[in-house]
Amino acid sequence: MNPSSFIVYITSLLWLNLTDAKIGYFWHITDLHYDPFHNSQEFHRGCRHNRANNEHSHRNGRHRDHTCDSSWSLIQSAAAFMQERHPDTLEFVLWTGDILSSSMEHMSEDFKLEAVRNVTDILSRTFSSQFVFPALGHNDPPPSKRLVDMWMQWLPTEALQTFKTGGYYTIEQSHSKLRIVVLNSVLWAGGAARTDGPHLGQAQWGWLEEVLAKARSKNEMVYLVAHAGPGMEERHNAGSSSAAGGGELTPSANGRLLQTIRQFSDVIAGQFYGHRHTDTFRIIYSGGRPVSWALLAPSVTPRGAGSMSNPGLRLYKFDSNTGKVLDYTQYYLDITNTRGEVHWAVEYNLTQYYGLREVSAMSLDALAERIRNYNDRGVFIKYMTALRVRHNIDTADCDSACVHVHYCAITRADYQQFRSCVRNPASALASQAAHNTTAILLYAILILISS
Ligand SMILES: *[C@@H]1O[C@H](CO)[C@@H](O)[C@H](O)[C@H]1NC(C)=O
Ligand SMILES: *[C@@H]1O[C@H](CO)[C@@H](O)[C@H](O)[C@H]1NC(C)=O
Ligand SMILES: *[C@@H]1O[C@H](CO)[C@@H](O)[C@H](O)[C@H]1NC(C)=O
Ligand SMILES: [Zn+2]
Repeated sequence: MNPSSFIVYITSLLWLNLTDAKIGYFWHITDLHYDPFHNSQEFHRGCRHNRANNEHSHRNGRHRDHTCDSSWSLIQSAAAFMQERHPDTLEFVLWTGDILSSSMEHMSEDFKLEAVRNVTDILSRTFSSQFVFPALGHNDPPPSKRLVDMWMQWLPTEALQTFKTGGYYTIEQSHSKLRIVVLNSVLWAGGAARTDGPHLGQAQWGWLEEVLAKARSKNEMVYLVAHAGPGMEERHNAGSSSAAGGGELTPSANGRLLQTIRQFSDVIAGQFYGHRHTDTFRIIYSGGRPVSWALLAPSVTPRGAGSMSNPGLRLYKFDSNTGKVLDYTQYYLDITNTRGEVHWAVEYNLTQYYGLREVSAMSLDALAERIRNYNDRGVFIKYMTALRVRHNIDTADCDSACVHVHYCAITRADYQQFRSCVRNPASALASQAAHNTTAILLYAILILISS
């Protein structure tokens, strides 16, 4: 073969390879927490944790204040940015709930629906030729005729059937083998007695298992999408008896979801959640082997539970034939930057930032091991920087015990296991990192010395 025909040969191979994977994109946006009172006399409704600091908020301008939920102008700037950064092959948008500020909890249903309508309208203008798939969060109105009317532009008839009653649904991507399963995590959360009653939560289990089994038989891959996913928050310490705060899955729901994920890990191509207002991930193991991953996107609102973060928007890159997630780009708005204009920027790209060869349970498991490696703080600092979307990073006061809690949150989605992991670093090391006895010995010695 002469050199030029060799080049043609290689080029055609590359070309075949490239055309094999059909690259597509989708946005994942979550926890907008729109606060209609943000700019009014009643702005403190969205800033109730910071009444003493009002002068500070005045100085920085409303939507630049980390202690407030999203103003309308913050939501507008996010929408404008997504429209401008619009890839040609944008396929859909995942929108995982908590549309409204928790300060609106006691407002009338009418008013809440008007606010949801406004956010829905701006998203439908922004994504005029894509479908937006909404998941309900604990700060959102429950399914109703009016919500159905608003979202029927995006949801096909079959999806509306289950959405109407339970707020959950599935979408078949007609041109590919990808199925999107949107869960209503509120039905599995504590305090979800609500008006809908526990039978809906029960119905969702039966429905989910059926959908997953059917997907398996049809050789489809599935994205699990919900507001809250399985696992614990790194801030919860080992002592707390159950996950606090609204919207958390109950211990039994969490356990059952993990069991379902393990059972169908061959079908689940990825899990996408919001709710935590942090940029993090969870790995699910089966028989000690990493079998599934969940990526948690940071919120649009700068207000977190307990701490703050910069607003984030996430754009996924995937193979739209197979559903395989290839990468994502995390965008952010630095709201402490007081120099003039609002400027959304790239924060990082997943594979490049952490040096991953691919996005898989195995590669993320290896990443978790690097994050907790106390001898090389580099990866941990990267993780902590991303966690709060580059806001107020102070990793100096995160000692080895603190690093360990982060590691437990990532790798122990089971509540019980999380608590025992936090309580007992040595046994956690022994169970997960049996491949490094040196590390276990060193850790045991450390623990002996420090006790
Ligand atoms: C919704 O948008 C309309 C039109 O811009 C505005 O008058 C109204 O105050 C908004 N309501 C809420 C709750 O955001
Ligand atoms: C991240 O990926 C995006 C989209 O592929 C690309 O445009 C951008 O240059 C990358 N950014 C960095 C910092 O590598
Ligand atoms: C095992 O852990 C020790 C101490 O943390 C580290 O120096 C060593 O490189 C690790 N070895 C392997 C094979 O991971
Ligand atoms: Zn939220």
